[in-house]
Amino acid sequence: MSAALTKKSVDKLSSAEAGKELDRLAAEIAEHDRRYHGEDAPVISDADYDALRRRNDEIEERFPLLIRADSPSHRVGASVSEKFAKVVHAKPMLSLDNAFNDEDVHDFAVRVRRFLGLKEDDKLALTAEPKIDGLSASLRFENGVLVRGATRGDGAEGEDITANLKTIKDIPLRLRGKAPKVLEVRGEVYMSHREFAALNKRQEKDGKPVYANPRNSAAGSVRQLDPSITASRALNFFAYAWGEASELPADSQWGMLKAFEGFGFAVNPLTRRVDTVDAVLKFYRDIEAKRAKLGYDIDGVVYKVDRLDLQERLGFVSRSPRWAIAHKFPAEQAETILEDIDIQVGRTGKLAPVAKLKAITVGGVVVQNATLHNEDEIARLDVRIGDTVVIQRAGDVIPQVVRVVTEKRPRGAKPFQFPHTCPACGSHAVREVDEKTGKEDVDRRCTGGLICPAQAVERLKHFVSRQAFDIEGFGGVYIETLHEKELLKEPADIFRLTKKPDALDRALAERRAELSAERRAKDGRGETMKSKKETKAAAEADAESKLVENLVTAIDARRKIGFDRFINALGIRHVGETNARLIARNYSNVDAFLAAMEGKNAVAELDAIEGVGEVLAQAIKDFFDEPHNKKLVKNLLKEVTVVPLAARKIAGSPVAGKTVVFTGSLEKMTRQEAKARAESLGAKVAGSVSAKTDLVVAGPGAGSKLTEAQKHGVKVIDEDAWLKLIEGL
Ligand code: IVH
Repeated sequence: MSAALTKKSVDKLSSAEAGKELDRLAAEIAEHDRRYHGEDAPVISDADYDALRRRNDEIEERFPLLIRADSPSHRVGASVSEKFAKVVHAKPMLSLDNAFNDEDVHDFAVRVRRFLGLKEDDKLALTAEPKIDGLSASLRFENGVLVRGATRGDGAEGEDITANLKTIKDIPLRLRGKAPKVLEVRGEVYMSHREFAALNKRQEKDGKPVYANPRNSAAGSVRQLDPSITASRALNFFAYAWGEASELPADSQWGMLKAFEGFGFAVNPLTRRVDTVDAVLKFYRDIEAKRAKLGYDIDGVVYKVDRLDLQERLGFVSRSPRWAIAHKFPAEQAETILEDIDIQVGRTGKLAPVAKLKAITVGGVVVQNATLHNEDEIARLDVRIGDTVVIQRAGDVIPQVVRVVTEKRPRGAKPFQFPHTCPACGSHAVREVDEKTGKEDVDRRCTGGLICPAQAVERLKHFVSRQAFDIEGFGGVYIETLHEKELLKEPADIFRLTKKPDALDRALAERRAELSAERRAKDGRGETMKSKKETKAAAEADAESKLVENLVTAIDARRKIGFDRFINALGIRHVGETNARLIARNYSNVDAFLAAMEGKNAVAELDAIEGVGEVLAQAIKDFFDEPHNKKLVKNLLKEVTVVPLAARKIAGSPVAGKTVVFTGSLEKMTRQEAKARAESLGAKVAGSVSAKTDLVVAGPGAGSKLTEAQKHGVKVIDEDAWLKLIEGL
């Protein structure tokens, strides 16, 4: 690399030179990151480092088509998380379902009772614990000694922040008394109001940025590279849950909290054990009244089924336990002006109205956009452009418009007319009517389907995204360009592109020419640059062909794809990563899945999968009923190979990978519980018997399914035999 090139001003670089510079900068910045974060031994000054990043950004702005997949600019803000080693949690760290009012809490209790088959007057003890607004951490003790502390991360994998957690005085380094061989204690790291105020005062005095709220400052403090900084900020910890444990010191949530206290942990002193929903609601109101005086932030109250055997039976749905719920306090609100309503078209064609707001800070966060949900919501609120609106923000939820301050409405403000045509393609946008209920869908959707560029482009972007096909370097700019140039209409086209690199090359070159023409027009230099452009063509063609080569390699690398990613990539309504995995686990391979979607039991079969509800089941079926989707999948399957998910191995489970059908009435558990339990042991639970069924569990009153089982020679057992089979697992 010539020294001259590294110094050449960005507006003088040719495309070929820009490509080389971006390669160099990516490598150099990565090396400095490694030295700084990994070894804590930087070799250049902060100013020089910033200059490298700035040059990278400027080149990218001029040559957007040359942006590398691993560009340093993609890592802004993420570098912090690259400082710590990753920790895979032995047991996932789950989150909680929310209740926003008393009725939601009653519903929770009803759901729990129904699942467990409890009668109305059967006792159901619950713990009620303040919901601390900090960040959760998991502390692993081996033979009573703290060996590792980690953040929650995405629930499956967190960051190793042991040294920092060890500085928190509420966290014992060694458990008191007789400790289990392995015990992971989980709880919340938080900062008191007093410490928060003092810290911000210090930060201000030192000319450093102040924190927006105690939660952010607790999070910022435990994620310091230097543990002495964490130590200088008085953090606290309340224990309330656990992960892996070689043995449990108690058989109830309450007992576990007491045991944590015995081990030397701080447990929130306001926690109570109560027997009725009325009592938990009273607790909620008492705590709400005390909230401002507690000295630390809480954002609600958590209710948990007390008995651990019942918790075990209740299990989990997706990422939250069925045995707990967070009853949230009302969200923070603020007033601002609604400057405009923007209609965005998503990949399912939904016209999503977004309130464009005069920027305002709510709960320490600057808010400029808020969701307006749909047309009915706009009508219900009667929100008009220019109105003063009350917005609210709760936790990480997208801000919402709560109401209009009509007294402040400007004169002449007109009711908002929700468009009946798609802003992206002009097709009709309609509200579908449910055939069964005759009810209108709340969302208006563009009917353009694949002809709607917004939908097509959004779907294709989703298709190549990280959670789906994960095609390296194939970013949004390429999708938009290639879609506009009609080289990309459906997912299979992405793979077809590898066979026409010349067309790909041409399209990208054309786009680049358009971009520089736009830039010239903006710079007011008009036609004068034209001849110069031509002379540069040869050098630039070189860089472009390298780019095309890289893209082709990246696309080819994804011709083999995991079944769950494949399903997620299709962009079916309501199907994200979690649901895609649930479905992929349930079918042995893609052909079996597609065949099942053709069958008349498709919806029932999908609905029978743990974690998949009726709405989702119907959405999947609807997707595969559409001829153009069938064609899309068929074409795609000509290009890619779908690799089935390995059957979940559940240690010692005799039913892992087996298809089980429950029929007749069960006496020791509800049908819902039986299904959830079987699935947690790796079985697939089907709604009907076929030659593929491995086992039928029949209770009294079993009818046609029993006859079917006999016809196919499927093994039939009763409920007791089933319980025996899965005993101790
Ligand atoms: S229990 C399996 N108890 O709230 C259940 N969580 O919204 C795990 N939190 O990620 C959580 N106080 O960070 C539980 N007393 C409490 C809590 C609590 C605060 C946080 C925790 C969790 C989040 C879920």
